[in-house]
Amino acid sequence: MKLLITGGAGFIGSNFIRYWLKNHPADNIINLDKLTYAGNLENLKEIEDNPKYKFVKGDICDGNLVNELIKEVDIVVHFAAESHVDRSIIDSQIFLKTNVIGTQILLDAALKNQVKHFHHVSTDEVFGSLALDDKTKWNECTPYDPKSPYSASKAASDHLVRAYGNTFGLKYTITNCSNNFGPYQFPEKLIPLAITNLMEGKKVPIYGDGKYVRDWLYVDDHCKAIDLVLQKGKAGETYCIGGMTDDINNLEIARMILKILGKHETEIDFVKDRPGHDRKYAVDWSKAKKELGFKPEYDFSSYLEMTIKWYRDNKEWWQKIKSGEYKKYYQLQYGKAQIR
Ligand code: NAD
Ligand code: TYD
Repeated sequence: MKLLITGGAGFIGSNFIRYWLKNHPADNIINLDKLTYAGNLENLKEIEDNPKYKFVKGDICDGNLVNELIKEVDIVVHFAAESHVDRSIIDSQIFLKTNVIGTQILLDAALKNQVKHFHHVSTDEVFGSLALDDKTKWNECTPYDPKSPYSASKAASDHLVRAYGNTFGLKYTITNCSNNFGPYQFPEKLIPLAITNLMEGKKVPIYGDGKYVRDWLYVDDHCKAIDLVLQKGKAGETYCIGGMTDDINNLEIARMILKILGKHETEIDFVKDRPGHDRKYAVDWSKAKKELGFKPEYDFSSYLEMTIKWYRDNKEWWQKIKSGEYKKYYQLQYGKAQIR
């Protein structure tokens, strides 16, 4: 099999490529990535010389390039996106361009070249937000109700994928997955930001009252879920993929990280809340469990410890990121008080 992976130099995409080459060594992979601020070839250092792997620097919005690359492949796994909610609040235009138009360009090329399977990687954020006391979990029948420019752009891309299936017969699957964490996550997202800030002697910025809930999933489990969908999923189906946490809030996560790193609660900095901040996400992944055999492997605290160990052992990786272009964004988002 030959796969085109879009956005393979980012957090989940790079973990997926490493996972795939390890578990399917006979397959060939092309990684198409624009190398935005979030794309980093250092994420793929250990496989860059693998003869089964090829990197192409390019934009999914470049129709000619996408068309040429798709000609060669059987399967497309589409990760490429602008992925950070806070950046979509600062400026949403690139989110529409990459996440919506980029997806449409890939879909056209996939149809034209009759790819066997187009897998679209999406998010649970398309379902909106739950109240803290709401025990509902989202599933594949939950109506879409996105609330941030990021989630609205991902919702639009999901609708487009389904429309291409319905109108043109494209063979597709979609996963709507909860918040991921693990190695190589860009330190703008909560868990790597908290870990690396503490390692640098800075505080953990917590938005608002910190009582915001996400359904955390370790990135390897997400990769396994996508593998299962590619092997056993049915064309035209959506699978919700969720984590192993139940109602854990950001403050509790920050406290767990502080404890593992031997730091005190005074290292938490309550900062201005995110506008339109979604209160709670919760995912019912029983369809993926029943039909695909999906199940997260370890519990949240074991994975959190493994993640902290990874950031401790790979300081050079994140220090390079934090000392570069990222500084400007950090100042814009958190203000001068946080820069030390
Ligand atoms: P990321 O921001 O770490 O990586 C995105 C990658 O896409 C980067 O390598 C970037 O260079 C590349 N890219 C961006 N624009 C591009 C373009 N126009 N052309 C080609 N490449 C481009 O994101 P991530 O966290 O790895 O997320 C990957 C996918 O998974 C996204 O579609 C995201 O919506 C989805 N997702 C993420 C999470 C999460 O918690 N991180 C959860 C569920 C779903
Ligand atoms: P994030 O990692 O940005 O993922 P998402 O917004 O896609 O869920 O944020 C996870 C949660 O952590 C979310 O409730 C926002 C919160 N958060 C903070 O409290 N402080 C921060 O500095 C960041 C980046 C996030």
